Amino acid sequence: MARKVSPYSLGLLVLPLLLAAPAYAQNQVSLIPKPNHVEMHEGGYIFPSATPFAAFEPFMEVAALLYDHPFAQFTAVERIKSHKRIPATGVRLVQARAEDRLTNDAYRLVVDTSGIVITAHQAPAMLNGILTVLQLAYTQPDGRRLPAMVIEDKPRFGYRGLHLDVSRHFYPVSFLEKFIDLMALYKFNTFHWHLTDGAGWRLQINKYPALTQRSAWRTHPAWKDWWHNGRRYLDMGEPNASGGYYTQAEARQLVAYAARKGITIIPEIEMPGHSEEVLAVYPELSCTGRPYQHSAFCIGNEKTFTFLKDVLTEVMAVFPSKYIHIGGDEVDTTSWGTCAKCRTRMEQLGVDSIAGLQNYAVARIDSFLQANGRRLIGWDEILDGGAPKDATVMSWRNVESGLAAANAGHDVIMTPNSHLYFDHYQGNPRTEPEAIGGYIPLQAVYGYNPIPAGLAADKAKHILGAQGNIWTEYMPTTDQVEYMAFPRAIALAEVVWSDPVGRDWDDFNKRLQTHYRLLQQLDVNYYRPSYAVDIHVDFNPDTLTNTVSLTTEQNELGIHYTTDGSDPVAGSTLYTKPIELAVPATIKAAYFVDSARVGGIATAKADIHKAIGKNIVYQTAWDASYPAQKDSTLLNGQKGGEHTGGGQWQGFVNNVDITIDFQRREAINSVAIDFLRDPAANAYLPGEVTVLFSDNGKNFREAGTVTNGAATDSGFREVKTFSIDFDVQQTARYVRVVATNVHNALLLTDEVVVY
Ligand code: ACM
Repeated sequence: MARKVSPYSLGLLVLPLLLAAPAYAQNQVSLIPKPNHVEMHEGGYIFPSATPFAAFEPFMEVAALLYDHPFAQFTAVERIKSHKRIPATGVRLVQARAEDRLTNDAYRLVVDTSGIVITAHQAPAMLNGILTVLQLAYTQPDGRRLPAMVIEDKPRFGYRGLHLDVSRHFYPVSFLEKFIDLMALYKFNTFHWHLTDGAGWRLQINKYPALTQRSAWRTHPAWKDWWHNGRRYLDMGEPNASGGYYTQAEARQLVAYAARKGITIIPEIEMPGHSEEVLAVYPELSCTGRPYQHSAFCIGNEKTFTFLKDVLTEVMAVFPSKYIHIGGDEVDTTSWGTCAKCRTRMEQLGVDSIAGLQNYAVARIDSFLQANGRRLIGWDEILDGGAPKDATVMSWRNVESGLAAANAGHDVIMTPNSHLYFDHYQGNPRTEPEAIGGYIPLQAVYGYNPIPAGLAADKAKHILGAQGNIWTEYMPTTDQVEYMAFPRAIALAEVVWSDPVGRDWDDFNKRLQTHYRLLQQLDVNYYRPSYAVDIHVDFNPDTLTNTVSLTTEQNELGIHYTTDGSDPVAGSTLYTKPIELAVPATIKAAYFVDSARVGGIATAKADIHKAIGKNIVYQTAWDASYPAQKDSTLLNGQKGGEHTGGGQWQGFVNNVDITIDFQRREAINSVAIDFLRDPAANAYLPGEVTVLFSDNGKNFREAGTVTNGAATDSGFREVKTFSIDFDVQQTARYVRVVATNVHNALLLTDEVVVY
C-alpha cells in the first residue's frame, strides 16, 4: 500500500535544509491516541520557510486549522480542482476516492520528502489528520521536522468527551479555550459544559436576569469556604461577591471556537435537583416557597415548567448541539412528599411514587426538547422509575448502571466514578492537594474499557463512548483543573479512540514521556509522575515464598532497595526485576536521581508466618460488600496493599472477632494485624486490638492489648499494623483476635500475622 520512500529522492527545495541538519535520529513517533496503523519510513520532511498548501473544496474550511501549527508558516491555501492537478509538494488535503479504501470516519496521512498528503472523505476525518500533524509538532524534538510515515486511522467511539463543572468554581473563557485546544490535540470531540449547580448559575438567561445578577455570585471564592459558611448568594456588585457568568455572546463564541477544532459543546442545565441557586432567587419555583430549603423544583407547579422551557429555549438558541443535558442526578425529593401541589400532580398522573414525579418531569422536558429537534441526555437517575425511551443516559454511578441502561436499549455515555472521575486523587492523598476523595491513578484510567463486561454483542452499539468528568469542588484555580485533568485525560483519549487490541500500558507510558514536552510548551500545570515507590508483596502458598514487586510512576530505572530493614541509599541494590524471598523480610525502597534520593522511603513486610493456611472461625461475620477471599482472607499470607481494591481487604461493620486454631499447641512470639484507614470508604482504625489465648477453645486468657494512640476517625489513607510482641515466648492452640469498632465505621483488615 505505502510506497517506500528513498531518503535520496529529495525535492530540490528542501535539499539544502536536510543536508545542513542532522538525520532523523530515530524516525519514530509517539502519537496519543495511538493510530490504528503506523508505518515508519526513512527520511522525512522539513517545513520550508513558507510551506505550499493546497486542499480540495470540502476541506478549505478545516485547512485553516493548520495555521495553528506552532513551527511552520503556511502560504495561502490553493484550491485543488481535480485529482489530476494535485501539487507535487507541500501540504495537500485530498478528497478520498473509492480506491483509497477509507471509511467515512478515517484519514490517511502520508509524509515523505515531498511533503504531507492527508486523504479523507469528510471534513471531520480530515480534521483528525490535521490534528495529528499538530500533535507531532509539539511532541517531536524538533517540531519543524516530520519523519516519513504512513498513518491510517479512525476512532473507536463516536463520543469522546471531557466534562467541566464551572459552577463550583468559575473559570474565564480564555481558560476554556486552552482546555478545548488541549482536547482537540488529543482528538476529543465533545465538551460537556456543566453550567448550573447550587454553587453558581453561569449562563446569561435574558428572561431571568436574577440568575446571573445574584445566583452567579456568592460569599466566598472557594467552594469549600462557601459550603461550610452558610452557602449564601450575593448580588453582583456587592463587595464580597465572588463568581461570574458567561454572556450568551461569549458562549456562542466558545461554541464556534470549539467547532473549528471539531468539538461539539453540550450544555448541561441541572434539573430538577442541584438547583439551590435558582430557588434562592425564584423561591416560588420551590415546594416551600422559601429559599435555600430544598434543592429540587416543585413538580406540581406549572411555573416550574414555564421557567425550564424558557431557559432551554435560550440555551438551544446558543448551543446547536443535537444533545442537551438536563442533569437529573441526586434529586433531593424530601419536599415533594409534603408539597400539596406535588401530591395533587401525583394524583392527576395516577403515580404512587416520588420516582414517578421525577419521571414525569424528565419525560415532559424530553418531549419539549424533541419538539425542538433535540435529544435529551440525563445522568443515571433518569432511569429510576423509567426514563423516556429514547433518552441517552450518562452513566456515572458505576459500570453496572451503564450496563443496565444499555441492556434496556438506551444509548449510553460511560462516565463511571470508579474510573473516569478526574476529581478523585491520582496519587497519595498525604502528599497531594486536597481532593474530593477516591483514588484513580493514570493506569486505572488507561485500563478502562467503555464496553461493560457482560454486555450482549448486539447491545454494544448503545455505548456511544466515554467521558472524563471534572467536578471542581476542590479546584479553585485553573492550575488545579489542569493538574487533575492531565495526564489522565490523555489516557482516556487513547481509551476512546484506539483499537483495544493494540493497547498496552508500558507502550502508552513510553509514548507519554514525549507528551510532557507538549504539556510544558502549552504551559499546562499537569500532575508530574510520582517518585513514590509502591511495594507489592505476592505470597505463593505452594512454594511458601514471597515475590516482591516495586513500582513507581517513573519510566526509567531508579528504585534502590534493601531487605534487611536498613534505609536504602544510592548504593543499595538497583531494582530491575521482582525479588523472590524464601524468608520473612522487611523491604525498604526509594527512588534516586543522580545518586540523590528524591522520594520518601516505602516500607513493607514480606511475611511468611506460622498461621498461614490454619483454620479460622469468625465470631463476627465480614460485611457482604468486602468479602475479600472470604474464609481464607486473613490467613492466606497475602497483604492488601494501600488501596481497598485488590481483593485482600476484608470489611467488618461490627468488631473483628476471629479465632485461629493451630490444632496443636504452638509456640507464639508475636501476633500482628493490619488495618486500612480510608476515609473515602468510611474505613477507620479500631480503638484497640486484644489478643487472647486458649488451649481448649472455651476458656480464653488475655495475652495483650494494643490501643490506637492516634485519631481513629480522621486522617488520610494509611495502613497501620497493630502488633503485640511477647518478651517471653507463649504457647497456645487457639489464638483469638478482637478489634473494637468505635465509630460505626468499616474496619478493613487483610491478615493476622503470627510468629
Ligand atoms: C454526579 O456525579 N452526581 C453525576
